[in-house]
Amino acid sequence: ALKDNTIIIVLGASGDLAKKKTYPALFGLYRMGFLPRDVKIVGYARTKMDDAEYHKRITSYLKVPEDDQDGQARIQEFKSFTFYVSGGYEDGPSFEKLNSFLLDIESKYQSKQAHRLFYLALPPSVFIPVAQHLKEQCYSTTGKNRIIVEKPFGKDLDSCRVLLSSLKQHWSEDETFRIDHYLGKEMVKNILVLRFANIAMSAPWDKNSISNVQITFKEPFGTEGRGGYFDEFGIIRDILQNHLLQVLSILTMERPVSFSAEDIRDEKVKVLRAIPPIERSDTLLGQYVAANGKPGYLDDDTVPPNSVCPTYAATTLWIHNPRWEGVPFILKAGKALNEAKVEVRIQFKDVTQGIFKDISRNELVIRIQPSEAVYLKLNTKTPGLNTRAIPTEMDLTYKRRFTEAKIPEAYEALILDALRGDHSNFVRDDELDVAWKIFTPILHWIDGKSGPSPKPVPYPYGSRGPKELESFIGKYGYKRTVPEYTWPIMNV
Ligand code: BG6
Repeated sequence: ALKDNTIIIVLGASGDLAKKKTYPALFGLYRMGFLPRDVKIVGYARTKMDDAEYHKRITSYLKVPEDDQDGQARIQEFKSFTFYVSGGYEDGPSFEKLNSFLLDIESKYQSKQAHRLFYLALPPSVFIPVAQHLKEQCYSTTGKNRIIVEKPFGKDLDSCRVLLSSLKQHWSEDETFRIDHYLGKEMVKNILVLRFANIAMSAPWDKNSISNVQITFKEPFGTEGRGGYFDEFGIIRDILQNHLLQVLSILTMERPVSFSAEDIRDEKVKVLRAIPPIERSDTLLGQYVAANGKPGYLDDDTVPPNSVCPTYAATTLWIHNPRWEGVPFILKAGKALNEAKVEVRIQFKDVTQGIFKDISRNELVIRIQPSEAVYLKLNTKTPGLNTRAIPTEMDLTYKRRFTEAKIPEAYEALILDALRGDHSNFVRDDELDVAWKIFTPILHWIDGKSGPSPKPVPYPYGSRGPKELESFIGKYGYKRTVPEYTWPIMNV
């Protein structure tokens, strides 16, 4: 682990990701006492600004109330070891300047060892030159070097391979930490424990008991100014190909030999390799339109007119192995929907009919956010002098069960893992390769590379998604709970 004598260098320090995620996570880790002793943080970006301006930017998203004196004092401390260097992303001399800044800090160390953790919060267009310059001009010769990179890792299989191999010329797999921040989320990490530490979960975890699985991502806002980026990628590259597929692989992989990073990732790759490319007929695409006073996707000035970019997608994946043959895995994601929610919903098969009529199916729901929870819908006898079964739930809502627990932010957990050198929750190169193999054909179809692009169906801003969704999931055997299921304590 990188304990002493470590500098964390944030490239792209003036950008959105750094401001919203990286710095708040670094501050959170500092407050909890998890940053290396005497750590220094150096921001680097093109914008010219003085320390005061830089400090204003990086603290603008630290949510510490004015009257929290300890918190405010910690912000002052945090500023005292964060510095800023400005420079270009594609020229050697700028990186030489950065390196002398780092050497200057390190010259005050007692020991000769100096570690550097580089965090690339950068647009993909400069990934490669920056990775190369860091290696050539800023690589520590006396300690460990690590590099954290963020998606997008290419746009399809070929471009991903080009990107990976260019990065590999300079950085070894061991030094590279590819973030998919969903892997840092508490409930995503919990899936391994739920599955493999409970015989009651692992025993029915296959095609014999499970009818269908949905992994759903819902966001209540549209692209709002981020349309320029979004239109180039679309919802599949933004959410399904990475975040939801990662969740799927952990849900379906076989039991790893150990919890070591390579054992876990070996199993994830193995199950992903059993998934053939998605069929067009297993795909539903949508795009939001103006409603309730909110603009449609095409009304966003940063979006090209007549864009057919999907802001909603539902796709069904199939796993050809003995455990999962025939079970549909429906991945759904959309922007500008009616609520913010990410969950996994596993629907079990019907019980044998005969003694029961119209009885609901069991469902296991893992709510990733908001309000982390695991609950199982199950039938019980209606209490009292009645023998009818009614659907109810066994509920593990974190806020009720773990009242004192503070659930870490995904980025806090991941940066700490990178400091410790633990790759388990980062994406390995071969995982990316199989992930792109599954999605590339439908992406090329959507991009118009294999004939005319499909036109997404419209859905109103703030709705549950395209009206076609109900019949889409019905086609894969999903059955709604009867009678209409309501759970009064749902919104804790
Ligand atoms: C990012 C996507 O990877 O994940 C965004 O690029 C999306 O479009 C975000 O909003 C969602 O992350 P979270 O942690 O808020 O669910």
